[in-house]
Amino acid sequence: MSDDDSASLTLHALVGGDQFFVDLVDRFYDDIASDPLLGPMYPDDTAGPRRRLAGFLIQYWGGSTQYSDERGHPRLRMRHTPFRIDEAASDAWLARMRYSLAQVTVPPEAEEAVWEHFVRSAEFLRNSD
Ligand code: HEM
Repeated sequence: MSDDDSASLTLHALVGGDQFFVDLVDRFYDDIASDPLLGPMYPDDTAGPRRRLAGFLIQYWGGSTQYSDERGHPRLRMRHTPFRIDEAASDAWLARMRYSLAQVTVPPEAEEAVWEHFVRSAEFLRNSD
């Protein structure tokens, strides 16, 4: 593989494709109902949320565009306005994601990039003090 090839490898390819994102999101949503802060925000049936978050991440990191084919432009800030996202909610979301990331197998450089994106996004999605 030339340097050019490795420079253009997407993170989606680096982690081995869709399965990493599906596994990560499955860990994240397993047992979310028991989270006192986040649980009430999500529907009892998390099949839709799982599909949307995994699809969004697959697309963001260079995989298929199925998410936008189904949902259009992500417009994540707008889509999160129904939920009160203050510091506590943002911290709870990130803590749950940190724990989920620790449970899946992922190259360290990919884990770091994914984690930094979650931290930035969670900050960006804050809509309440
Ligand atoms: C900061 C704390 C956050 C809270 C409390 C939160 C909460 C929620 C809730 C309650 C939903 C609705 C579930 C659904 O119907 O899909 C949702 C959807 C979603 N969230 Fe978050 N979220 C947070 C952060 C994030 C972050 C950091 C990302 C991305 C990196 C993200 C990406 C998404 C996506 C892609 C959807 C589905 C959007 C759609 O309707 O197509 N969220 N979130």
